[in-house]
Amino acid sequence: MKTRKPSKPQQFNAPPRFAVAILAAGKGTRLKSQLPKVLHQIGGKPLLQHVIDAARQIVPAKDIFAIIGHEAERVKEAVAHSGIGFVLQKEQLGTGHALMMSRQTLAGYDHVLVLSGDAPLIRAATIAQLRDYHLQQNAAMTLLSALPPDPFGYGRVLRKAKSSALVTAIVEEKSLTPSQRKAHLREINAGFYAFAVKPLYSHIDRLKTENTHHEFYLTDMAAILSKSNSKVVATAAADDMEVLGINTRVELARLDAMLRDRKCHELMLSGVTIFRPETCVIDADVKVAPDTVIEPSVQLLGSTKIGANCLIRSFSVIQNSTLGENVLVRPGCILDEAQVANGALLGPYSHLRPGSEIGEGAHVGNFVETKKIKLGKGSKANHLTYLGDAEIGAGVNIGAGTITCNYDGVNKHQTIIGDGVFVGSDTTLVAPIRLGNGAYVGAASCLTEDVPDDSLAVARARQMNKDGWAKAKREQMAAKKR
Ligand code: UD1
Ligand code: CA
Repeated sequence: MKTRKPSKPQQFNAPPRFAVAILAAGKGTRLKSQLPKVLHQIGGKPLLQHVIDAARQIVPAKDIFAIIGHEAERVKEAVAHSGIGFVLQKEQLGTGHALMMSRQTLAGYDHVLVLSGDAPLIRAATIAQLRDYHLQQNAAMTLLSALPPDPFGYGRVLRKAKSSALVTAIVEEKSLTPSQRKAHLREINAGFYAFAVKPLYSHIDRLKTENTHHEFYLTDMAAILSKSNSKVVATAAADDMEVLGINTRVELARLDAMLRDRKCHELMLSGVTIFRPETCVIDADVKVAPDTVIEPSVQLLGSTKIGANCLIRSFSVIQNSTLGENVLVRPGCILDEAQVANGALLGPYSHLRPGSEIGEGAHVGNFVETKKIKLGKGSKANHLTYLGDAEIGAGVNIGAGTITCNYDGVNKHQTIIGDGVFVGSDTTLVAPIRLGNGAYVGAASCLTEDVPDDSLAVARARQMNKDGWAKAKREQMAAKKR
């Protein structure tokens, strides 16, 4: 018998509309760089991109706005592919001013989550915690706080009473009064906030620049809102590492190390073996399937994806490449934008340049360089070879020292090698050229013409032996010496 489900209670309140604003307009003077601060990289991508990627797990890209100013065009260009919006803060008159510039953009939202573009370790779960606590408390302003071992340099959180949920103010390090300094206030303002848009903008014009930096401090909104009887609360981050910001290159290196440590940790817990993980450099977006083993001093960069059961041996650098399952990468290989199918074997010391597609079970060996090639299933190029702009079939044997002469000084030309071809050692293939299926090339040939299927091609000078010539030469030289 069918029972009718009770109909859901009618929804009168639409879910609150959240925007994310990322503060990214500052110059980053202390980095001493031409590059804007938020474009400096850790874990293989810009600081700002880390924050955007975390925010995208909370709201869709169209509801994320980066507030940019210093080198705005350059910043925009670097992250525009994420599909986010931008607000221009032409002059950087402080974090409060950054939000003043966003008034129109945020007008259609109920709440805004304000994130710091220079604090890349923030996790989506922590942004969600801030959002949820803000909604649950029905607050006008909620800030994320932390209790780092050394609070020096941060704004401090003042609460109404010791264990009160209510915040009355945030005081910047430089503005602490002597008695506040004595109180050893440990709870710091992490620089992440949730605001209800309405109270924020009905009071934001009360911000003043009477402070050490003569800037509009967003942090002053805590006191302004609290005094106007709006609710200001704080929720503490579970991990105070997450809220660390970057101001110097020393901090940049430290956070990069922390991020990569976190990455190795995640991979190991997901089933990847990494020996001496502290020596490996694995970018944030790299994916590795379980039971793959990574030896010390390996770099996996960019959008690299590695299948299950691979072994990546030491000193290999793999960037923006995809490896299937059961691939063996012997020591010292360099891969860039390469595709490697299941069971292939690379190295030691192979160099796979962009557009290299290595087929199932194929071998690329010592000192072999490839570029824009397809190497078919089970084909082998084991030693000292250059293969560029080539399509190579299945079951092909490329002898040691084979070279595709793909460049005539102006244009690049294609080499096509059919299935089952045997290319003898030290062969030069002057492209454009085609070797038919089953062809056989004599060693040390310099081929300039196509080879038909199943034919032998030999293109080298004939050998000549002169009987006794060497012996006679030796005797002649010995006689001269006497
Ligand atoms: C800020 C907080 C401080 C907090 C700390 C946490 C203020 C006044 N202070 O200090 O309480 O403990 O973060 O890290 O907010 N920015 C703009 N436009 C501007 C100025 C800054 O977009 O006009 C951006 C910066 O690029 C940066 C972020 O805002 O990404 C924070 O600014 P920053 O100057 O680094 O603030 P802090 O001194 O770290
Ligand atoms: Ca900062």
